[in-house]
Amino acid sequence: MENRLDVRNLNHSFIKNNDEEIRIFQNLKFSVGKAEIVAIVGRSGAGKSTLFNLISGLLKPSAGKIELALRDDGSEGRIAYMLQKDLLLPWRTILENAVLGIELQRTVTQADRTRAMAMLARYGLESVANTYPHALSGGMKQRVALCRTLLADPTIVLLDEPFSALDYETRLMLENDVLHLTQTEGTSVILVTHDIDEAIAMSDRIVVLGGRPANIILEEHIVLNVPGDEGKRDAITARGAAEFPFYHQRIWRALRDNDVAHTTNSTGNPLP
Ligand SMILES: Nc1ncnc2c1ncn2[C@@H]1O[C@H](COP(=O)(O)OP(=O)(O)OP(=O)(O)O)[C@@H](O)[C@H]1O
Ligand SMILES: [Mg+2]
Repeated sequence: MENRLDVRNLNHSFIKNNDEEIRIFQNLKFSVGKAEIVAIVGRSGAGKSTLFNLISGLLKPSAGKIELALRDDGSEGRIAYMLQKDLLLPWRTILENAVLGIELQRTVTQADRTRAMAMLARYGLESVANTYPHALSGGMKQRVALCRTLLADPTIVLLDEPFSALDYETRLMLENDVLHLTQTEGTSVILVTHDIDEAIAMSDRIVVLGGRPANIILEEHIVLNVPGDEGKRDAITARGAAEFPFYHQRIWRALRDNDVAHTTNSTGNPLP
């Protein structure tokens, strides 16, 4: 498979106030294929958001390479990043917030606004398009942030716990939208989630990050046999697949064992 993103020998450290170095990544290797959805799971503090900050260029790695492939037509690839905490600009309306990703690249056209309005409407946000973020619930803000991310016409989308504040029904709807995006546009997605079910239902591959410095402790290709349209899954059929519990147990065990390894001393006894 052609890769959209290659992370090679990535090293990154933070320096604490007392000059102590915390190594987050050491020689991390990681790739994402075209139209592939990769879920990243790992305990809190493993380094998932840091990895996104490095891939998106918000942070500069201490060493290593991050390569983004060109589009099929030879133009530059583009990363769209939906941060863990949605960042809507309070002085802009919802519609103006939604088109911000486009605005960072070029002048926003009327066609862009029409497209943005259609997407906001799809997410039940039509009536608030001309209001300001303070009037919205957490889940609504998160949906606006997702609209903004998807409207930017990216080749790869980084989603950091995008659905955590949403009710179940909306969550399934947005999961389907992301699945649809990869199926129709060939967009690649990296999804950070603490929800194992969501990781299995949505992704072609799950990467479990663990240890310090963090590395890939398990990589699992997800193959679900679902009925219907050429075996294309959706958020519901995926959860009903016979293979689902098998993957769930494998991922859960990897997380648990890593957690145990992390909180025991050299004799294997739990730390107090
Ligand atoms: N700017 C920073 N300076 C110093 N340490 C940092 C900085 N950002 C993150 N860290 C540390 O790096 C580690 C990884 O943090 P990160 O936010 O990437 O974890 P995470 O896997 O996204 O966790 P969560 O699941 O809670 O979101 C943590 O120990 C964190 O305290
Ligand atoms: Mg995080």
